[in-house]
Formats: sequence, C-alpha cells, structure tokens
Amino acid sequence: MHPLFRIIKNGFFCLIIFSCLKSHAQTTEAAINAKVNALVKQMTLEEKVGQMAQVSIESLGKIEGENFVLDPSKLKDAVDNYKIGSILNAPGIPLTAAQWNVVIGQIEKAANETKRKIPVLYGLDDNHGCNYVRDATLFPQEIGQAATWNPELVYNAGVISAYESRAASVPWTFSPVLDLGVNPQWPRIWEDYGEDPYLTSQLGVAFIKGVQNPLGSKDKLAVSVKHYMAYSDPKSGHDRSDAWIPENYLREYHLPPFAAAIKAGARTVMVNSALINGIPTHINKHLLTDIMKNELGFTGFIVTDWQDIENVYRRDHITSNIKDATMLAINAGIDMSMIPYNYKEFCTDLISLVKEGKVSMSRIDDAVTRILRVKEELNLFKIPMTYLKDYPNFASDEFHKASYNTAAESITLLKNENNVLPISKTAKVLVTGPNANSMRTLNGGWSYTWQGDKTDYYAKQYNTILEAITNKFGKENVKYDEGVSYNMKGNWSQDSAVDIDAAVKAASDVDYILLCLGENSYTETPGNINDVDLSPNQIELAQAMIKTGKPVILILNEGRPRVIKKIVPGVAAVLDIYLPSNFGADALADILTGDVNPSGKLPITYPRYPNDLVNYIHKPSEGGGNPQGGDFNPQWPFGFGLSYTTFAYSDLKINKNSFSPDETAEISVTIKNTGSREGKEVVQLFVSDLVASLTPDVKRLRRFEKVDLQTGESKTVTFHLPMKDLAYVNPANKKILEAGDFKIQVNNLSTKFTVNKTKTF
Ligand code: BGC
Repeated sequence: MHPLFRIIKNGFFCLIIFSCLKSHAQTTEAAINAKVNALVKQMTLEEKVGQMAQVSIESLGKIEGENFVLDPSKLKDAVDNYKIGSILNAPGIPLTAAQWNVVIGQIEKAANETKRKIPVLYGLDDNHGCNYVRDATLFPQEIGQAATWNPELVYNAGVISAYESRAASVPWTFSPVLDLGVNPQWPRIWEDYGEDPYLTSQLGVAFIKGVQNPLGSKDKLAVSVKHYMAYSDPKSGHDRSDAWIPENYLREYHLPPFAAAIKAGARTVMVNSALINGIPTHINKHLLTDIMKNELGFTGFIVTDWQDIENVYRRDHITSNIKDATMLAINAGIDMSMIPYNYKEFCTDLISLVKEGKVSMSRIDDAVTRILRVKEELNLFKIPMTYLKDYPNFASDEFHKASYNTAAESITLLKNENNVLPISKTAKVLVTGPNANSMRTLNGGWSYTWQGDKTDYYAKQYNTILEAITNKFGKENVKYDEGVSYNMKGNWSQDSAVDIDAAVKAASDVDYILLCLGENSYTETPGNINDVDLSPNQIELAQAMIKTGKPVILILNEGRPRVIKKIVPGVAAVLDIYLPSNFGADALADILTGDVNPSGKLPITYPRYPNDLVNYIHKPSEGGGNPQGGDFNPQWPFGFGLSYTTFAYSDLKINKNSFSPDETAEISVTIKNTGSREGKEVVQLFVSDLVASLTPDVKRLRRFEKVDLQTGESKTVTFHLPMKDLAYVNPANKKILEAGDFKIQVNNLSTKFTVNKTKTF
C-alpha cells in the first residue's frame, strides 16, 4: 500500500474510533442526565436537602476495641428520616478493608431500604494512599511525591489508592490537595505538590487520571480536589486564617491547578476553609459559581470543608445564626455541606429557607442533580458495594514496591561535600535524633489517624530509619542514641533534650553520624507554629555532633522546611526525605550506600532565614542588591537536588527567534551523563518575561521532564511551548501576552526570543 494511502486510511480509522468514543461518551452522559433529571423530578424537598447533607461516621456509632459498630437507630435516623446523602471520615481508628466492607455494607443496606434507594456516597481522605484503611499501601506525602518530578509515579499512586479504596468499599476520596505550598509556616505545606502552579497542575492531573479514569469502573473513585483556593497562602501562616490576595493573583497562581483539574474531569471540589480578603470562601459566590461553575464549566459538585457553614457564623461573625450562614453558602454555590455532626439543624434550616423563598428550588435542584450525577457516574446505583475479596492485589508486594520507588525518587540530596556520600555498607555509624526511630515522623499527619499519632502502633511492621540502617549495615556496625526526643504529651511539636552528652560519647568510635532531625507529625491547626527555625534542642544536638569532628550526614524528616542555617555549614551532607512513609527508610538506606542514586529535586524553595520566606516566583525587587541585606537568598533554590553522577547540558535550541501569540515554540536541549554511574535528571525549562506592564516574575517553570541516563549516554529533550502559556493575568483579570523579549533558561544555558504582537486571551 502506498504510504500516503496508509496514513489516510489510518487517519480515517482513528477518526471513526474517536467519533465512536465521543458519541458513546455523549450517549452515556445523556443517559445519565436523563436518569438523574427524572429522579430529581420525583423527589420531595426533604429528600433533596438530605442529599446535600454529609455527616461524620463518629455520630452514627462507637468504637469497640479495634472495631467500629454502627448504632442501627442512629443510622436509620440519618439515612431514612433525614435522607442523608453522604457520610465521611474514619471513626478515630483505622479499620481494616474487611471492617470497612461491613460498616459501609450496613450503610448501603439502610439506603437501599429507603423509598428512593439512593446509595450513600462514602468519602475518605486518602492523602497518601488509603491512610484510614489498616494495612493499605501508603505513599510518600504529596510534597515527597512532588519531589520526584515524575508524573508517572504520581499516576501510579492514584491507581493504587483507588484500587485499595474500592477494596474497602469507599468510592470517593478527598484528594488530591492542589493548594500551592507557598508559605513555609503553614502547617499543611507537606500536603501539597510544592509551590509552583505548573508542577502542581501536572502532578494533580496525573493523580486525578490515575484515580478516576475510567469513572464507573469497580477500581476507580471520584476525586475531590481541594481546597479551592488560596487556603495555603494566609497572611499569618496559620491554618484557616485570612489571605489578602487580589483576583488577578488568584487567577495567576492559585487557580491554574484547579482549572487543570476541572479540565481533566475532577468530579468534586472541596472549598478553602479560610477567608480571602475577609470573605469566607464558603460564601464567595464569585469564586464558587461565577468562576468555578460558569467560567470553568465545572459539572461536578462542590462540598464544604469540615463544619464550614457553621464557621461562617461562629468563627467569622458574618451572620448571627447558622441558618443565615446556610443561606449564604448554598446561594453562593455550595452543593453539599460537610456538617459534620448536627445534620438535623442543617436539614431543617435549609427546608425552611426554601419554603421562605430565601433559597430557590432551582438552586436546590441544581445541587442535587450534580450530586446524583456523580453517584450515577460512579455506577453506585447498580453497584453500591465493592468487597476486599475482589481486590487480590490489596497491599501486594507490587504496590509496596511502587511506594518504595516513589520514596526513592523523592529523596533529595542537598549537600554532599567532597562526595562523602555514598558510604560503605561496612562503615560504623551512629544513628541519632528524634526522627531516628519513629514510624510516626516518617508518615506525618493523615496516617491511620488524623494527626498520625498512632502510627508507631499501626505501622510497626515497617522499618524506622534505625531499623532500615541496621538491616543495611549490620547490627554490629550501628549505634543508636536519640539525643533529643519528642514530647509525646501536650504540644506535639515540642521536643526535649534527653542526653546529648551520651550521644556525643556514642559518636566516639564511629565513622559517620546519621543525624535524623525534623518534625513530629501534625496537620491543620494543631500544626501551627510561631517559629520556623528548627527547634533549639535539635540545633544543640546538631552542633554537638558537628563538634565531634566526625562527618555528619543530616537527614531531614519534616513536613515544612525548617530553617537550619546554623548547622548547614558544619554538616558534610544533607538529605531531605520529607515524609516518605512506610518504605522511606528502606529507600534512604539504599541511597546512603549508593544502591540507589538520588534524583529528587526540591518542589519548594528552602529558606535560609525566617524573614526571607520568599518563593522562587517573585518580583525583581526581591533581589535589589540592598546593602543592608534582606535580598532573596534561599538555603537551596526551588528545583535543586544533587546526584552521585554529573550531567552536562548543551545545544539549547529554539526553532525561531520571533513568534506570534498563537504560535508554539519548539525548544530542545541535550543532556549527557558525564559521571560514572546511571542517574536520573529533571530537565527544567524556565522562562522570564523581560518587560511587561505588570512587573513580571523573575522566572517561571514552564516545562519539565525527568530522564534516565546511563554513563556516557545523551538524550535530547524537546519541549513544545505555546506562547499563550506565557500570558499573565493583568489587574483587569484578563490574560494578556505582551509583545517583547523573553528569556529561556535550562540549567546553565539560556537564549532569547521575541513575541511580535500583543494579544489578550
Ligand atoms: C480538612 C480537609 C479534610 C476534611 C475531612 C478538614 O478538616 O481541612 O482537608 O478533607 O477535614 O476530613
């Protein structure tokens, strides 16, 4: 066959297949809509309002030993009398998948005995795997996943989380978190994919695809991307506090990951629990309805965060009662309220608000249609229950390996003076520090329990750093002395010196000191801090270790980048392991000895000073050469991470010098492994707009790719960059690309090009 004919023929078939798939999707969508609309027409106001209510499992039963037992009368009251549409949360202990099967089985049975037989939508926070399902495969927390800069690993984490969640009968996850990790004081920075909107969008979309696609199959879930938006950027750095951000900045930085997620089909969105410019996000109609539903075309449903309608009244003093808060929130576009306890009040209030004409029936119908559509898309009407027995790969070696691989690619080598690392497996080492022998610190919050405080019990079968090091180096070569310990009572962030002198003594006959510092587990408000410096006790331990003269290898096991400028110069090496979860210590041991070559890169800027918590995305004025100091001067920059091999960049090329706004640039660069071992490198493309009417950011990440290179091997990476992606949001909230010069930077190479015309998108 003539090649041209073959191309036409193949193209023709592709077109037919594409058209068939598209029309199948349209038919399914049309069928779902027709079914849901018909159902909504039959429903009473009480039934509709019930669908909009979500309650927490704790209010429906009690813990008995290692189990949770539903109270049948409470369950009936919620599901039958009040027609509650959704239940969430773990009861304070993680249940096994089999126990979840029983609990959710009883809930679905109760739902099936109601008049409409509408399945209850159960949701859990799967922040790093199914962390509320006992023995499930946990992954590094999002900050570590981001440090891999590898969307494929993040996609796999999504696939595995969805599979294991379905083994536990749960079809809905409150993840991924798409907040930008821009404020190092904020206690949830580790729940994010770092500080950059592009990296966050890419990884968020990869995760969503892994979890959701194809929605409706028995091993997929609906995601809830959260917390829409700018939750992570409060002025104070404290959880759930006010952010002051103009709309063009919201659109430039915080909106893109959510827009990308909605475009990728995210079915539900959870709202920022805090306030922006003094307005609680839960009553911000402009953000919820105008932007999310109308402008971005979001067809799924919006769920509140925990108790957040009540917060509008109690915390934020916007109304003088809950009923008015409910009115404002539902009218702003909230579809489902995570109440989470007092559901009777919510249902009664909303019913009377409709009867009083304060909330329209069409708003209620819209909300219920959205909720039922997601239940239908998940196929819950036909298959409300899934069971562990149909998921033979639950917690399999294969899944554990995926978690290990993610941890191994996340660990970031920040300093390696005189190539002290890797070290020999026969070396004698002292393992010290409060993070040395703790599964709790390796996992962080959202692990088995909300604050992750029982992880040492639930994850005892996995290795702490001390255990992994002992396995690797042999018992005879490993000494352990904690030096500093977390105070397990009261304030979890506190630590106390145990016996630093004893640790110093223990160091006398070892070759290396593995100093494991960082933070204890926390999340949300209990994780607020007033001081971003690493604790004084840990600094004291580090200084004592440095003073011994032995090479100190600092292992940072922390959710937030705590300031460590006093000790960095004295240590020989620094490895940031973030919160790498249950296989993180094994991966660390392999990196220390060189069985694995580190390839993680910082997804955040690591600050050097507490008064310089500036991100890599900033204006040129942060680096004005002020003689008093104070310029942007991080400890380590965003995107930084060393390897045991070396890479050389060459031949940075762009296909043209001048582009119109609708054109796409083709940019290529060659990377060569010039060292003596295989290694992975993240090729990062930064672009700077050199002159613009709104002061441009110094540089922005626009593309990246992780490549694996053998010794001596080269690869050419090609990026396609539409000029449109370089547009910025101006103060009139319009995306504009202004004519002028731009600079491209890849590693140590740079070149320029011109945009020849201004365009508003
Ligand atoms: C958190 C959310 C979480 C929800 C349900 C809230 O306190 O802010 O991230 O999804 O609880 O557990």
